[in-house]
Amino acid sequence: MQVAVLLLLVAALCSATLALDNGEMRVPPMGWLAWERFRCDLDCEHDPKNCIRQNLFIDMADRLAEDGWRELGYVYVNIDDCWSSMKRDEKGRLQADPKRFPRGIKELARYMHARGLKLGLYGDMGTHTCGGYPGTTLDNIDLDAQTFADWEVDMFKFDGCYSNATEQEQGYPLMSKALNATGRPIGYSCSWPAYQGGLPPKVNYTELGQICNLWRNYGDIQDSWDSVLNIINWFFENQDVLAPAAGPGKWNDPDMLIVGDFGLSMDQSRAQMALWAIMAAPLFMSNDLRTISSGARTILQNKMAIIINQDPMGVQGRRLVKEKIGIDVFWRPLSKNASALVFFSRRTDMPYRYQTSLSKLNYTAGSYEIYDVFTGKSMALKDSAPFVVSVNPTGVVMWHVSAPAKWNPRHFYKGGRRQGPAFDGGEENAVPPVFL
Ligand SMILES: *[C@@H]1O[C@H](CO)[C@@H](O)[C@H](O)[C@H]1NC(C)=O
Ligand SMILES: *[C@@H]1O[C@H](CO)[C@@H](O)[C@H](O)[C@H]1NC(C)=O
Ligand SMILES: *[C@@H]1O[C@H](CO)[C@@H](O)[C@H](O)[C@H]1NC(C)=O
Ligand SMILES: *[C@@H]1O[C@H](CO)[C@@H](O)[C@H](O)[C@H]1NC(C)=O
Ligand SMILES: *[C@@H]1O[C@H](CO)[C@@H](O)[C@H](O)[C@H]1NC(C)=O
Repeated sequence: MQVAVLLLLVAALCSATLALDNGEMRVPPMGWLAWERFRCDLDCEHDPKNCIRQNLFIDMADRLAEDGWRELGYVYVNIDDCWSSMKRDEKGRLQADPKRFPRGIKELARYMHARGLKLGLYGDMGTHTCGGYPGTTLDNIDLDAQTFADWEVDMFKFDGCYSNATEQEQGYPLMSKALNATGRPIGYSCSWPAYQGGLPPKVNYTELGQICNLWRNYGDIQDSWDSVLNIINWFFENQDVLAPAAGPGKWNDPDMLIVGDFGLSMDQSRAQMALWAIMAAPLFMSNDLRTISSGARTILQNKMAIIINQDPMGVQGRRLVKEKIGIDVFWRPLSKNASALVFFSRRTDMPYRYQTSLSKLNYTAGSYEIYDVFTGKSMALKDSAPFVVSVNPTGVVMWHVSAPAKWNPRHFYKGGRRQGPAFDGGEENAVPPVFL
């Protein structure tokens, strides 16, 4: 484990200096993105009210600002495909569809900024967006970047429908340069690898880290557990390629959080939140914040899961163990020698009592303070002590594990509550104060 930590640290430090130098997204970005939950959702004929698309983004902004999301870090409000007019304006610039965005994009950006939020916009490297709206061909890149900057956009997602590999190879780096040349810091999300199978040799993660802040590696998420599990499997099967690519300012993006929609149980929702935190993934919810259940809200607003996701060291976690009995153990090193563990069950029968120990997971000798992320319970645990976690089918148990402290036999437990003072490790051993 120590060797692994060192290698990861070295990788993170080496690559940190090579990240896209726009100062953006030193920790994974958080916010809301329209696509999975709302798609184009344009039915102007039968539902004229719903046709005024800007209202959706204003509603979500109000919810983020008023319901405690913004303070937790969820600050982006991101528009996806189907926002623009079918035609560029007389000067060749993209323009918002006036029926759907009567206020225009710039006023929407200002609405966000007035509330301490940020606006994200969508475009496509190619002749058309995936939804058939005007795309950004190579000759339009500078103009479009300037248009987004003029509108005070804070983040730009560049999709890749209707272009080929050669054009993408030119277009994605050119857009990075063009955004930089506007002088406005704009977080840059590249869908490029998702169009090239997500793996080397077709995908060069060194280059991506130099030109993009985040990138979609794999297919779109859908509102189902099958889809979430498929994404989890792909990302962790390819962790040796993907994890070293991530770091402050450059993130793998397994796609949106669908917690709060229709497809996931509460256990599956906790599993998505936990594993997105382990992966240092961007946290873009795609749900309806006006009607979200309190259960889903509690999961998405879990402070310790967010602290783990937002760890400043920015090392992407990995799977340590994949047991034949259907339990996977995931681990992410955190700053101050802390770490996170996730015990995940692929089983479909009943809660499984999984036994292991920290030393089996290669933790160094010492005693640790464990904080259970979803129950809020704490306990002390010696590296050599066997323990049992009960993991629900398609669910997780997630722990924040403090830095190791020397084992002190004075600290024992009675009735689940700690007796006596904290560990010898003092502050280093402490669970971070919840929250920030
Ligand atoms: C543009 O790139 C330069 C050099 O990498 C960097 O110093 C600067 O902050 C960037 N500006 C923006 C707006 O991204
Ligand atoms: C990619 O598209 C461009 C422009 O349409 C075309 O000139 C080029 O031949 C295409 N390249 C490949 C490899 O298909
Ligand atoms: C990947 O990109 C980096 C940075 O642009 C470059 O130095 C390297 O040669 C590329 N690797 C391959 C295999 O093309
Ligand atoms: C982390 O652990 C290493 C090795 O045990 C130690 O040298 C280092 O001082 C620790 N760092 C912090 C911030 O606790
Ligand atoms: C612990 O380390 C050993 C030796 O490096 C390795 O073989 C084993 O896979 C590791 N176990 C875990 C759970 O990482």
